[in-house]
Amino acid sequence: KTAFAEVKTDSRFINVAHRGASGYAPENTIAAFDKAVEMKADFFELDVQRSKDGHLVVLHDTSVDRTTDGTGYVRDMTLAELKRLDAGSWFSSKYSGEKIPTLEEVLERYRNKRINILIELKKPSLYPGIEQQVANLLREKHMDRWRGKVVVQSFNHDSIRRFHQTMPWVMTGALVSYTSYKDTGVTNEHLNTFARYADFVNPNKKLVDRDLVNRVHQRGMKILPYTVRSSEAADRLFHIGVDGFVTDYPELGYIYYAQ
Ligand code: G3P
Ligand code: CA
Repeated sequence: KTAFAEVKTDSRFINVAHRGASGYAPENTIAAFDKAVEMKADFFELDVQRSKDGHLVVLHDTSVDRTTDGTGYVRDMTLAELKRLDAGSWFSSKYSGEKIPTLEEVLERYRNKRINILIELKKPSLYPGIEQQVANLLREKHMDRWRGKVVVQSFNHDSIRRFHQTMPWVMTGALVSYTSYKDTGVTNEHLNTFARYADFVNPNKKLVDRDLVNRVHQRGMKILPYTVRSSEAADRLFHIGVDGFVTDYPELGYIYYAQ
């Protein structure tokens, strides 16, 4: 494997562990991120939101109900309240005691590990100013100038544009959902807009065919579809030329490293 943090120029396959290695450990916890490192993924992906008292925290849903033993919305709870929750038991008793991590804890723990971090700004319209806050934290941790160490993505493209304007030297990704684009497909107009502020186009895999891959590449961007959970899906995407994919099971990417 070539050195990490060289995504832009690196032509080999990019294997991204979705919410950490979430097939094997509870999503968006240190256990899942450690597992992604252990499995030698190139990146792990995580979702960032904000607590009531202004801390950046790592959790997928806007409520804590599904992945913890608590109830309520992330934005209505303080960091102390969020930290009291068990974020592992829902997955397996083996993981009881896992906590919701802060983004700062994650950046600190993995800044010198051999893995890159794909940061999703989740529902940023609920968290005004979160783009600037993430940018400030990346700068504080000296992780912004290390090209490819972090990539920032969102389904909210205004948010990505704002982040890009704040910190244009950090790579960004436009997430593309099936429900929003299934009727039109991803058109050249869409791609031309994404190319103004994004380095990656990361669509639902159902939207991805060879033609889309080519049109993304023609515009100098890379494409990392989500979410791969079978070797059939992995193989189809690899053979139409994607740059990598986002998967719950990082071993699904192994066979493409050498090709
Ligand atoms: O990185 C792709 C993926 O994380 C987007 O979907 O719902 O799992 O955040 P979701
Ligand atoms: Ca995500």
